[in-house]
Amino acid sequence: MKKIWLLLLPIALFLIGYLAKPKSTTPAQPAAPHQTHSISPKCANCVEEYIFDVIENGSNIFHYPSGPMPARTVSTQDAEKIAAYLTTLQGLKPSHPEWVQEGKTLFYGNCVGCHSHGGKGKPGYFPDLTRRPLLGMQKLRSKY
Ligand code: HEC
Repeated sequence: MKKIWLLLLPIALFLIGYLAKPKSTTPAQPAAPHQTHSISPKCANCVEEYIFDVIENGSNIFHYPSGPMPARTVSTQDAEKIAAYLTTLQGLKPSHPEWVQEGKTLFYGNCVGCHSHGGKGKPGYFPDLTRRPLLGMQKLRSKY
């Protein structure tokens, strides 16, 4: 009988230790990294994708005192349309030119509060979305 206890004891101790362990605290997810593989400010697709990525996932590469760019403030569909409009501010042709007009309206409805009229932004607080190349693309590229 004693032998069984000798066998069970380590198992019981293991179980107690396992259960007593505080639930693993998963660290806060870091901001999704930008896709930097195709990040050329001269290629319309890359610019459009970069802008879309920032709208969907947010961004905090400048650490401005104004805080990060918030993620997902608009639906994915609207993000695509706004990205099309902002691509034209870079002098590039978006994948769906027919989205530009609505994208502009959506920009004025959702983004102008921070990025100002025409996307001009505010130096040191909100990036100028008419800058060529976009400051963020330039910064990300200089890392690679
Ligand atoms: C609460 C203020 C705020 C709002 C609202 C906001 N942004 Fe931003 N945005 C920022 C800040 C701050 C940054 C810089 C983030 C960083 O440090 O990476 C930024 C960055 C960006 C960039 C990247 C610029 C670059 O040079 O790389 C784009 C594109 C952008 N925003 C588009 C938008 C669009 C489109 C909307 C509306 C759907 C929007 N933003 C709404 C604050 C805002």
